[in-house]
Amino acid sequence: MADAQWWRTAAIYQIYIRSFADSDGDGIGDIAGIRSRLGYLAQLGVDAIWITPWYASPNNDGGYDVRDYRAIDPAYGDLREAELLIGEAHQHGLRVILDIVPNHTSTDHPWFQAALAAPPGSPERARYHFVDGRGASGELPPNDWRSTFGGSAWQRVTEADGEPGQWYLHLFDPTQADLNWSHPEVHREFLDILRFWFDRGVDGFRIDVATGLVKHPGYPDLGYREEDLLVLTNVPDHPHRDRDGVHAIYRDWRRLAGEYDPPRIFVAEAWVADSERLARYVAPGQLHTTFNFPFLQSAWDAGELSSVIESTLHAMSRVGAPPTWVLSNHDVERTVTRYGRANTRKQPGRSGHELGPVDVELGRRRARAAILLMLALPGVAYLYQGEELGLPDHMDIPVDRIQDPIWTRSGGRRRGRDGCRVPLPWTLDPKGAGFGSADPWLPQPDGWETHSVQSQLDDPTSTYHLVARALRIRRSLGAPQELEWVVRPDSVLRFRRGSAFECIVNLGATEVPVPAGAVPLLRSDTIDVTPDPLGPDTAVWLRPRG
Ligand code: NOJ
Repeated sequence: MADAQWWRTAAIYQIYIRSFADSDGDGIGDIAGIRSRLGYLAQLGVDAIWITPWYASPNNDGGYDVRDYRAIDPAYGDLREAELLIGEAHQHGLRVILDIVPNHTSTDHPWFQAALAAPPGSPERARYHFVDGRGASGELPPNDWRSTFGGSAWQRVTEADGEPGQWYLHLFDPTQADLNWSHPEVHREFLDILRFWFDRGVDGFRIDVATGLVKHPGYPDLGYREEDLLVLTNVPDHPHRDRDGVHAIYRDWRRLAGEYDPPRIFVAEAWVADSERLARYVAPGQLHTTFNFPFLQSAWDAGELSSVIESTLHAMSRVGAPPTWVLSNHDVERTVTRYGRANTRKQPGRSGHELGPVDVELGRRRARAAILLMLALPGVAYLYQGEELGLPDHMDIPVDRIQDPIWTRSGGRRRGRDGCRVPLPWTLDPKGAGFGSADPWLPQPDGWETHSVQSQLDDPTSTYHLVARALRIRRSLGAPQELEWVVRPDSVLRFRRGSAFECIVNLGATEVPVPAGAVPLLRSDTIDVTPDPLGPDTAVWLRPRG
């Protein structure tokens, strides 16, 4: 664990705690569940885990609505267990990354409760964005900003005299109030929260909504159309996304992380217009890494993927930051589902059956090839829990079991993100698939146990074994940073990393020969090392000869 540069080449496994493993039979994943599976994760071969928010929360948005940043939600355990987990993960050789949520707090947070009880213009209200409404009696929201989850981004409060009063900003759910980052107390508080966890041995943080902290002080209208909501990142001088002011905050955070031995690290959740804007988050003195969402948004298309790879490598090398790669997370459809459709590009804000039929077998074949592609690229790779099992989304969660606030905020037009958050299958038990003894908080699809870890361990061609083998080989190769394209015919990606390693991905409809004389290391279809030509949607890793 001594390598201070580990974060430049790590394979990081995202744990969505609620759905990972339930140890106490309440249907909800928990810290003890994670602790019981650390051996599994070490065996899989990842270098670090990122745990989604585990803080005290009313859980209106999967814990991204934090009531107390220094306390563990009782559904997940307590602080002592969190400390034990951090220590045990380290003993297994796994670093621990937590999720920090600085853009907003829960409306149950003491600061927001104090703001509600205090009058307009008070210091308590200054920590959030409380603004008078428009219209003769302030009855209209202050501007046209929309919530990412649907509807206005403003909610009116009732003042102490019982009359309707000011409005507060919530770019997500109304129970997630945006903090005012022009207030020095907000800065101080978050530095203190980071210290609290760094002092407990946490190795780094994923920064939620990293682009959103700074708002235009004049709250100007944006001119939104509802359907543009999720793709509007490249508006110049956007009033609440990717504003220049966020970078001063991250310079402070970087300084703090550097005070620790080994230095702690950050990864930004940054949905921005292009890789040049992204590079600003990881320029010298800024954050260490950032998610690279254009890769996750790309269609299963050689031209599109190779141009994202190129622009990412170029932008990151200019600022000396490692590239990162991610194909799925708790906010987007799983690749098995997305790649199984006629249109494989991520569709902003939409999911499920509304996007058309899914061929799960085709999607899984492509997802397996995509994992080999991702793990062959230089830099950091993120795996979302269940990706190593080739899980699809649950497409048919009954509407009365939907939990995502997007469902109600969109008036039932968007089903939201529950489909990719279904509790993991660990065993062949048809009841709960080994997630826990109780009915899980989100229903699992029929036959979920057939995807389980237990069944995949017994199948030498399973996605689990593919990923575990790939991680082992990746580790043994060390970390050559350079990537050299060998040839770039249409519909094939082929590149080398130094002289020892080559990756070929066939995204086309016809077979591609495996070069004579090369030693196959791993194939996405059969796993074994046959030199047969590569069928459509198949990848191979090779050791070139000579
Ligand atoms: C991004 C998180 O990944 C997502 O799950 C959450 O709803 C929003 N940020 C708001 O915190």
